[in-house]
Amino acid sequence: MGALAAGGWLLRPDNRGTAHNAYFQAINDYLKQAGPGRPLMLVDRQRLADNCRTLMAMIPAGCDFRIVAKSLPSVPLIQEVMTHTGSRRVMVFHQPFMNALADAQPDCDMLMGKPMPVQAARRFYQELGDDSGFDPDQQLQWLIDGLPRLQQYLELARSLGRRLRINVEIDVGLHRGGLTDPQQLDALLSLIDANPQYLTFSGFMGYDAHVGKLPGFIQSAREGHRETEAIYRAYIDRLYQQAPQYRERSLCFNGAGSPTVALYSDGTHLNELSAGSCLVKASDFDLPLLEAFQPAVFIAAPVIKSLDGLNLPGPLPLGDLWQRWDPNRQHTYFIYGGFWKAQPVSPDGIQANPVYGSSTNQMMYNGSSDTALAMDDQIFFRPTQSEFVLLQFGDLAIWNGQSLDSWWPVLPQGQGA
Ligand SMILES: Cc1ncc(COP(=O)(O)O)c(C=O)c1O
Repeated sequence: MGALAAGGWLLRPDNRGTAHNAYFQAINDYLKQAGPGRPLMLVDRQRLADNCRTLMAMIPAGCDFRIVAKSLPSVPLIQEVMTHTGSRRVMVFHQPFMNALADAQPDCDMLMGKPMPVQAARRFYQELGDDSGFDPDQQLQWLIDGLPRLQQYLELARSLGRRLRINVEIDVGLHRGGLTDPQQLDALLSLIDANPQYLTFSGFMGYDAHVGKLPGFIQSAREGHRETEAIYRAYIDRLYQQAPQYRERSLCFNGAGSPTVALYSDGTHLNELSAGSCLVKASDFDLPLLEAFQPAVFIAAPVIKSLDGLNLPGPLPLGDLWQRWDPNRQHTYFIYGGFWKAQPVSPDGIQANPVYGSSTNQMMYNGSSDTALAMDDQIFFRPTQSEFVLLQFGDLAIWNGQSLDSWWPVLPQGQGA
């Protein structure tokens, strides 16, 4: 028994706690004095600009860059990325975002990132003002994953008296739908070509998020990438064989996403690459191929209560024993909010308490005494992904290195029916 206790003592975790580094301390001190006293989603404007430069250096010659709107869900955020990258192309996934972007940035060019229920497409046209500078017949490509949806969109085009641009989703290995065989293209092209007043073929979209996800001994990212390029090429070949007139047209061959954008090189058959997440780099994007990007979004949550020790409810002195054994449980913080898809990042060594449980109101975190936070200090978190978490804090708080210089509204989710 004694030996067991001694062994347990020897296995004690090291003290991983430190105070904030200079970067987070500066934000902490600013917010403590001038912040609104609630959890915020911070965007580091300088890091965002640096990430845009890093990304543009990766885009091969002959390829355009398309901004993935869902991963940067704020009109001013997307506009800032447009300024730094020169791109006006956006990939959109949600009808209310589409209308907001068409209103705010009428010179943008939209490609759908997923096939939309035809009712959502109809709604987009209903909400688009008659005097909008955005011309969907020229600036919008709907995504179509098969014949039944194409037939629905043909009906929509007839009822609206418009010509819709049709981009075809192809399965390059992700197996999330779309065409699975180049020959399936023939039926779509026939329907499009039989209805030229209502439909135009505008290109392909083949997303490759599966690449690099398999263990290296099964398939390396580069092998996976070569395979997706070959599959993509087979669709382009089929198109040009079946309908050689398309060789002369300017088409959109879109692919990639943050995890794979670095794999494309000058010889690619694609002419357009999409990415969004890498520009703010939530923690799911801590990937070797994205090493050159810096985290540019953080949650800052005020500490409401800073308490010595670990005091767990109940008759047993569990908390006391635990904090003696693990120095990273010596201190207890209750923060404003919590339970986001996010991991604490500063101070070092902060962790949730799985025994106490989670709360969206006042979540408990523990750290060693060296984390040294007082009431009204901040704990910083990195979201694990951006598309949902960035929508949870109201306006985005824009950090310029010294202060919060702007507040950027996030994109709307939708109103009424
Ligand atoms: C069709 C499509 N393209 C590209 C992306 C890449 O987006 P990100 O760069 O934000 O990962 C996504 C993300 O889900 C997608 O669905």
